[in-house]
Amino acid sequence: MAKHEITINLEKCIGCSLCAKTCAAHNIELKNGKARVLGNDCLMCGQCSAVCPKAAVTISGYETEPHTNTENVRLNAEEVLDVIRFRRTVRQFQEKKIPEEVLGQILEAGRLTHTAKNLQDVSFVVLDQKKELLEKMAVGLFRKIKPFVDLFSPMARRTKIDNHFFFFKAPIVIVIAAKNKTNGILAAQNMEFVAEANGLGVLFSGFFTTCANISFKIKKALKIPRGKKVAAVLVLGYPKVKFRRSAQREKLDCIYM
Ligand SMILES: Cc1cc2nc3c(=O)[nH]c(=O)nc-3n(C[C@H](O)[C@H](O)[C@H](O)COP(=O)(O)O)c2cc1C
Repeated sequence: MAKHEITINLEKCIGCSLCAKTCAAHNIELKNGKARVLGNDCLMCGQCSAVCPKAAVTISGYETEPHTNTENVRLNAEEVLDVIRFRRTVRQFQEKKIPEEVLGQILEAGRLTHTAKNLQDVSFVVLDQKKELLEKMAVGLFRKIKPFVDLFSPMARRTKIDNHFFFFKAPIVIVIAAKNKTNGILAAQNMEFVAEANGLGVLFSGFFTTCANISFKIKKALKIPRGKKVAAVLVLGYPKVKFRRSAQREKLDCIYM
């Protein structure tokens, strides 16, 4: 039996066909002036339900009802651009705990992020108590690899792999796992914005992501289920550094066709 089922309340349905026109899976048709669901083989994305002016379309099997968008939430484009312009990677953190409600908001941003085919395959591991243990495992792995990397990278030769090489003494690390890596990365980016909105600094740890994906031991310790990979790792804390200028980027590389 399908986990979710779409139902149309025929008394409420006014036959406007907005649901049928919006359905990407062509799973709704109009019959005798009323919407009719063809089957359960669709994305279960809920666009049919979201677009209905009469709330006639519902999807079963979710713990919560959808929120109603009453005031057309809109972001200010210049403000959003400034957030992107001024965000910087933070590698120095205060010894200050992240409140539970802030952590909850960051995780909520990940949970709410859209996924390809509405797969909802993204899961999260919050490293708190076990942070040091996992970092130690990754440090051990990188110390073994380092002599080879040192052969061709002056930057690697200059870099010492100390005990805080991955997490920089940050209070919290969130490992984001997914079947589809892009889904996990999208969630990570939204989580970063919510973290920043709460005054936190963030580092995307590509190094720890690599460790988790190449080491069976680390992946197992993180309880990443089979079929999923680590898509991103967010290192989070209150910043001990203030950046006064925006990032400099190369000029736009884009062609119009
Ligand atoms: C996917 C990704 C992985 C990264 N991995 C690491 C990492 O493992 N360690 C680190 O110190 N910085 C890491 N960074 C930070 C980048 O080095 C940083 O974004 C870049 O130098 C530009 O600096 P900015 O973020 O302050 O603009 C990563 C960034 C991204 C986007």
